[in-house]
Amino acid sequence: MQLDNEKLRSYYSDPQEDLSLDDVDLERLPRHVSIIMDGNGRWATARGLDRSRGHVAGVDALREAVTTSVRLGLDAFSVYAFSTENWRRPQREVDLLMHLFATTLVKELPLFHQENVRLRFLGDLDALPERTRVVFQRGLDETRDHTGMTFALAVNYGSRAEMTRAARDLARDVLEGTISVDDIDERAVSERLYTAGLPDPDLLIRTSGELRLSNYLLWQLAYTEFYVTDTLWPDFGKWDYLRAILAYQGRSRRFGGVTRQ
Ligand code: IPE
Ligand code: IPE
Ligand code: MG
Repeated sequence: MQLDNEKLRSYYSDPQEDLSLDDVDLERLPRHVSIIMDGNGRWATARGLDRSRGHVAGVDALREAVTTSVRLGLDAFSVYAFSTENWRRPQREVDLLMHLFATTLVKELPLFHQENVRLRFLGDLDALPERTRVVFQRGLDETRDHTGMTFALAVNYGSRAEMTRAARDLARDVLEGTISVDDIDERAVSERLYTAGLPDPDLLIRTSGELRLSNYLLWQLAYTEFYVTDTLWPDFGKWDYLRAILAYQGRSRRFGGVTRQ
């Protein structure tokens, strides 16, 4: 996406002791950043609050991260909001999350319009409550023609389920004769994943210090740079985001080759 230098400067104009926008190379920004937003529960518990309050606070952090991603001129920004394993949580928490997804989406539609953000979802939406599904569809319909950044929300997403589904789709296509077995290559698999058409993430951020993928984008993260911070998701702000970008720019991405001199 086109980077609006002036808007970015004013967005990052509040002075920080250890960091400034000048530390970042604006010519070498990632195209796609993905975040495993983790630590909402611990954030709330540490404050003597119910876990649900952590999820509510997490929404504010997400709004800021979407804006930051737009200001940084990303093509795509994706976040892990609910995994295929998160159904194991207490029913009350699951219900709260589903409700929060629906209400937040409606509330944030003006932001998507204002910032020309196109919405998409990663995951099996069929299993979601009716109201959440209806609102998600409305979000898709209303932002379909936007030409700016793509914001992908992973809900009821699991990488193994995603790949299993792709295998099933490929088998069906072969049986129906629309493709032959030899047509099954990496591109054919990619095209059948929820992320079809999106570039692979350049940078994956996980908050709250956990060193695992929790069934997230196993295929797409093959050559992604990882950044883990102890900061809990509700505390993750635009400067933490910039710190992650800075770390990313310090990496040497070789993709299996050697660094060119
Ligand atoms: C991440 O925060 C949000 C979701 C998984 C929906 P958690 O709810 O996992 O918070 P912790 O990991 O228990 O602190
Ligand atoms: C991963 O977080 C899923 C999301 C952030 C939506 P979890 O909190 O569910 O992951 P585990 O259980 O700690 O691996
Ligand atoms: Mg967690």
